Amino acid sequence: MTSKETRESFKKFFESKEHRIVPSAPMVVKDDPTLMFTNAGMNQFKDIILGNQPAKYKRVADSQKCLRVSGKHNDLEEVGHDTYHHTMFEMLGNWSFGDYFKKEAIEWAWEYLVDVLKLDSARLYATVFEGSPEEGLERDNEAAQIWAQFLPADRIINGNKKDNFWEMGDTGPCGPCSEIHIDLRSQEERDKVDGLTLVNQSHPQVIEIWNLVFMQYNRKADGSLEGLPAKVIDTGMGFERLCMALQGKISNYDTDVFQPIIKEIGKITGNTYGEDEQKDIAMRVIADHIRTISFSITDGQLPSNAKAGYVIRRILRRAVRYGYTFLGQKQAFMYKLLPVLIESMGDAYPELIAQKDLIGKVIKEEEDTFLHTLETGIRLLDKTMSEAKAAGKEIVSGKDAFTLYDTFGFPLDLTELILRENNLEVDLAEFNAEMQQQKDRARNAAAVETGDWVVLKEGSSVFVGYDFPEYDVQILRYREVKQKNKTLYQLVLDYTPFYAEGGGQVGDVGTLTSEYETIHIVDTKKENNLAVHIANKLPEHPEAPMRAQVDLEKRIASAANHTATHLLDEALREVLGTHVEQKGSLVSSEGLRFDFSHFQKMTDEEIRKVEHLINAKIRANIPLTEHRSIPISQAKELGAIALFGEKYGDEVRVIQFGTSIEFCGGIHANSTGNIGMIKILSESSIAAGVRRIEAITGAKVESMMDAIQDTMVELRALFNNAPDLTTTIRKYLEENAGLKKQVEDFMKEKQTLLKDKLKKNMEEVNGVKVIRYMGPIPVETIKNIAFQLRGEITENFFFVAGSIEVDKPLLTVMISDDLVAKGLNAGQLVREGAKLIQGGGGGQPHFATAGGKNLDELPGAMRKILELANL
Ligand code: ALA
Repeated sequence: MTSKETRESFKKFFESKEHRIVPSAPMVVKDDPTLMFTNAGMNQFKDIILGNQPAKYKRVADSQKCLRVSGKHNDLEEVGHDTYHHTMFEMLGNWSFGDYFKKEAIEWAWEYLVDVLKLDSARLYATVFEGSPEEGLERDNEAAQIWAQFLPADRIINGNKKDNFWEMGDTGPCGPCSEIHIDLRSQEERDKVDGLTLVNQSHPQVIEIWNLVFMQYNRKADGSLEGLPAKVIDTGMGFERLCMALQGKISNYDTDVFQPIIKEIGKITGNTYGEDEQKDIAMRVIADHIRTISFSITDGQLPSNAKAGYVIRRILRRAVRYGYTFLGQKQAFMYKLLPVLIESMGDAYPELIAQKDLIGKVIKEEEDTFLHTLETGIRLLDKTMSEAKAAGKEIVSGKDAFTLYDTFGFPLDLTELILRENNLEVDLAEFNAEMQQQKDRARNAAAVETGDWVVLKEGSSVFVGYDFPEYDVQILRYREVKQKNKTLYQLVLDYTPFYAEGGGQVGDVGTLTSEYETIHIVDTKKENNLAVHIANKLPEHPEAPMRAQVDLEKRIASAANHTATHLLDEALREVLGTHVEQKGSLVSSEGLRFDFSHFQKMTDEEIRKVEHLINAKIRANIPLTEHRSIPISQAKELGAIALFGEKYGDEVRVIQFGTSIEFCGGIHANSTGNIGMIKILSESSIAAGVRRIEAITGAKVESMMDAIQDTMVELRALFNNAPDLTTTIRKYLEENAGLKKQVEDFMKEKQTLLKDKLKKNMEEVNGVKVIRYMGPIPVETIKNIAFQLRGEITENFFFVAGSIEVDKPLLTVMISDDLVAKGLNAGQLVREGAKLIQGGGGGQPHFATAGGKNLDELPGAMRKILELANL
C-alpha cells in the first residue's frame, strides 16, 4: 500500500465508524502560550478536551502534521541516528469527546490493523498503564481486559508512568494510555529472541506504532490532577511507521515517503544510500529536516533569531552541517531538494506548490549564511584543538564545545567525533553545566508563572464583538499571571465584546464596570479559542454583574487599518503579481504593517501605484459585505483568499469589500470610506523573499499632512514666500556653492599674506623661534599655514595657534623635529591646553590639534601650552 493509499484508508475506516474527518491544524501554533509547534493530533482539540468549548462533532479523525523538536516532546537528537524518529511527522488519530471510550478505541484499533490492513496479529503487543501510587492512580485493568480478547496475557505488558501516562505538556490534558507495538524483525530473528523482551527497549524494529490515550485528567500548574468534565479518547498513530510496516520495510526512510528525497540527496551529493552508516545518517537527517523546514515556511514560520523561528533555523543548520561534514557539501544544496519534495507531497499539501519560490529562496539564503558561520566554527575548533595539544591536554574545554554548539550549530556528537579523530575528548561536565546555565537563563527570561484558573461559574465564552461594542457580562473565571515584577490577571467572561488579538489585529482594550468599581482591560488575547482579558487588577467583587465596554475610538481606528490591510493585499497582487502572499501583519489603532512574499525592492512608482489603487477604493466607499459563517467550500467559490498556516473550521467568516475577499475573523470598517486615506511610510526587506510595508491611514495621514504643510510654510517664509520653492532653493544652493568657491580662493590669498605676516612677527624665546596666532580662520587654512611655516623654518621652530571657525575654538601646535627630539610633544601639549577650552584632541609629536567648546579660555589655553613648553 502506498503512503497516499494508507492515509486515505485510515480516514475511510474512521468515516465508516461515523467519525468526522477534519483537516490538519497548522504545524506552527499561534494561540497557545504553552506550545510553539503542534506536537500531537490532540492539540487542536485541547479546549474541547478541557471542556472550555463544546465539541461540534463527538467523533473526529484526521492526519495531523506534527513537530517534536522542543518542550516536553522532543526527538531532535535521535533523528537521523535511528530509523523511526522524525522532527516532522504525520500523526493519524481518532477522537471521541465524551462519546465512546476504551472498548471501542481498542477494538477499532485492532480491527483496523488486523482486519483492514492485514498486519500479522502475532507480531503485535499492547502495553497498559501499571498505575502510580504517588499520583493515586491504579493499574488500567479495564484496558488489559479489553485487550485480552485479542492478545494472550503475556503480550499485554505493563508500562510505567513515563511510557504509559501521556501528557501534552507540563500542564494540560493527560491520561493513562495503551500503546500498540509491532515487531518487524525477520522470522529468523524472532525465533532467536522473543519480541516481548524488546518492547520499549529502543529496538529499531520493535516499535510503538499507535498510542491510545484515555484522557481523564487535566494536569494543573501546581502539579495536581483534576478530573476532566468528560472522558476523551485521543489516539495517535505514526504514519511513517505504519507505512514502513505495510511496505515491508525496516526503516521509515525506506518507504515511499522518504525514498524519493533520499535518492535525490544521493544524486546531488554523489552518494548512494546504504553504503556507509555515517553518510546514511546524514542523508536521513537531511531528508527529515527538509520536510520540517519547508512545511514550517509554508505555515508562516520563517527561520529567525527568536523562539519558533530559531528552532527552525537550528534544524536547518543541523541538516546543512551534516551535509557539509559527511557529504562534502560546501555550497548550498538543500534548496535543490524542493522539486522532489513537492513532487511527492505537493498533492496532499498544495501550500508547498503555491509557495515553492519563497521556500527555495529562504532555504538557500539561510544555507549560504550558515555555511559562512560553519567555516568560522571549524576554524575555531581547529584552534581549540591545537591549543589543547600544545598544552599537552587530552580534554578540550566544555565551554568551547558549547560555543560551537550554541553559536555555530555544531551538535555535541559532531564536535566529539572531530575530537576523537584527533585523540581528544570534550569536558562533558563543563558542557552540560553551560547547557544548564543557558536553559536557566532562558527560563528566567521567560519566567511567567501562570496560576490555575479560579472558576466562579462553569460555561464557555461567547464573542459578541462583531455586533456590540459593549455588553452585560459576568466573569466566569480568573487567574493570576506573574511576570518579572508584575502581576496581571486574566479574566474569562461569559459574553465578550472584546476582540482577542488574532489575524494581525491587536486585542481590544476597554473597561469592565460594576456598581462597585471599574477595571481596565489592557489587552485581550486568544488562548486556543478562548478570549482572555488582561487586567492589571482583580475586581473586588468578581461575581458582580459587569458592563464590558470596548474603547471605541481605538477599535474604530484599528478596524479602518484592518480594512486598509485587505485593500493593500489586493493592490499588491494587482501591481506586483499573484505570487504576493501575506506573511504576517500587525494592525493597531496607530497604523498597519504588512509582510508579504516578493523578491525585490518595490520601486517608488510601484508604491505610488499601490497607494493610488487603495485610495481610489477608499473614495469609492465600498460597503462591507460580511459573510459571518459560510461553508468553507462556498468561501472558496467566492474566491476568498485564505492564509496558509491558519486554522479554519468547516464554517468560516469571509470579509468582502467589492473585489477584495478574504477569510478573516477581524473587525472591519463599515465601508472603505472610513479609512479616509492611506499613506505608505516605508517598504523594506525583513528576510529573504519577504518585504514589509508600513502605512498609516485616516487621522494619522491628516496629522502627517499637517506637519508637512507646516514645514512647507516655514520654509517658504524663510525664502521670502517664494512661489516656486524648489527653483528658489536650487538657486540658493548654486549661489552658496559659488560663494564657497570664492571664499576658498580668497582664503588661499589670505593664507599666504597671513603666513608672511606671522613670520615677520616671529619672536625668539629661550633660543626658540616662536610664532603664535589667534583669531578667526578656517581649520584647513591654519593647518596649511602651520605646515608651510615648518617647511620654511626647519629648526628650533615652535608654532601655536588658537583659531576660531564660526564659534568653535581650535588649538594647533607645530614643532620642528629637532625640538621633538629634545622632548617636546605637540600631542601632549594640545591635550593639556584642550582641558581649558573643554575639549580634546591629539596628533603626532610634531603636529597636533584639539577642538573645544569654551571660546573665552582660548588665550589661557595658548598661554598654558607655551608655559609647558618653557617658552
Ligand atoms: N496524544 C497521543 C500522542 O501524541 C495520542 O501520542
